[in-house]
Amino acid sequence: MKRTILITGGAGFIGSHVVRLFVRKYPDYRIVNLDKLTYAGNLENLRDIECEPNYRFERGDVCDFERMRSLFRAYDVTGVIHLAAESHVDRSIRDPFTFARTNVMGTLALLEAAREYWDGKWEGRLFYHISTDEVYGALALTDPAGGPQGRGPYGEEFFTERMRYDPHSPYSASKASSDHFVRAYHDTYGMPTLVTNCSNNYGPYQFPEKLIPLFINNIRKCRPLPVYGRGENVRDWLYVEDHARAIDVIFHRGRAGETYNIGGFNEWRNIDIVRLLIRTVDRMLGRPEGASDGLITYVADRKGHDLRYAIDSRKLQRELGWEPSLQFEEGIERTVRWYLENGEWMDRVTSGAYADYYKTMYGAR
Ligand code: NAD
Ligand code: TYD
Repeated sequence: MKRTILITGGAGFIGSHVVRLFVRKYPDYRIVNLDKLTYAGNLENLRDIECEPNYRFERGDVCDFERMRSLFRAYDVTGVIHLAAESHVDRSIRDPFTFARTNVMGTLALLEAAREYWDGKWEGRLFYHISTDEVYGALALTDPAGGPQGRGPYGEEFFTERMRYDPHSPYSASKASSDHFVRAYHDTYGMPTLVTNCSNNYGPYQFPEKLIPLFINNIRKCRPLPVYGRGENVRDWLYVEDHARAIDVIFHRGRAGETYNIGGFNEWRNIDIVRLLIRTVDRMLGRPEGASDGLITYVADRKGHDLRYAIDSRKLQRELGWEPSLQFEEGIERTVRWYLENGEWMDRVTSGAYADYYKTMYGAR
């Protein structure tokens, strides 16, 4: 084995795509997936690679410092890609403590374990922290007047890497804090670290609490679609495999100490996505056009609901040559087809049956 990379949160949505990419693309690397298997962790996401010789799964909590120390020693970890986190804004509003614990203290425990094990020998080491564009706060929303080229369809401003942090939700506040800790380890101890801030992801294996998989499932089951407020909030969407490719490029070629924004210049109003999902699901299920329009249900707005996210990823495109590969409509087509063809995955997730898979595969460890 050339090197061991510890990927945390690998049983989650984005993590499972990153683990799959690295296990398949780098047979010489040993990929250790450390995940607590919270409600969001699902080992069924990794069925297709779980028997690969260069893959290991370890169940554990990133907040457990002793466990993190022993993992570094046991596997001689040289690189970390840290994705483990509590990730859902609505949950953070109800239960902020869990977010501070995992996202802040968990990141710190992992940083400390890395600092101790690497012990100042930084050559060939990297601590790569995966973060979100939500740390930058919210951008103003203007009318989609189709302004001059280079401006977004819904506003003038974009998040750049130089922007001041201005988080609003407990989720984004906890991620902001963890980003600061990672940078502090670079500036204080000289640890080679990287931070990337990515826009909203979508694609297969996303837990159906987030807008796109939740709504696909509800349309499939003819259930109401709870649109917060007036559905006018804007998010910038990226296909999850494009994010995983960016992580690969940045892990191998990014400059330590740097921050890179990841996004595809792809802003959409929530309500337009909902309509696109309805059209796509109805068409694929052979329902008449407009059959599910009546499912749209406007509900009370999310507290502190950020108006608009839009990310400027030109630094990554310019310096490392990464570009998104998929247009949104094509990505949505693929995503809807995947959820409809994998109805059993969705049913096992929504019923809770997926949690048994760990016991079946790994015993009661
Ligand atoms: P997810 O909720 O689908 O998965 C999170 C994973 O972390 C799960 O497998 C869970 O079991 C694991 N986990 C949670 N607490 C843990 C703990 N204490 N110890 C060990 N494992 C733990 O999240 P996701 O959407 O895949 O996001 C992954 C990362 O990417 C997060 O850091 C998130 O902030 C960031 N991110 C997400 C998006 C997005 O749109 N989903 C966008 C940008 C950045
Ligand atoms: P979400 O997928 O939770 O991602 P984030 O909050 O991290 O951007 O939500 C995406 C957008 O969709 C956000 O503006 C909130 C909105 N939304 C709804 O309108 N209804 C819902 O049921 C959910 C889950 C989200």
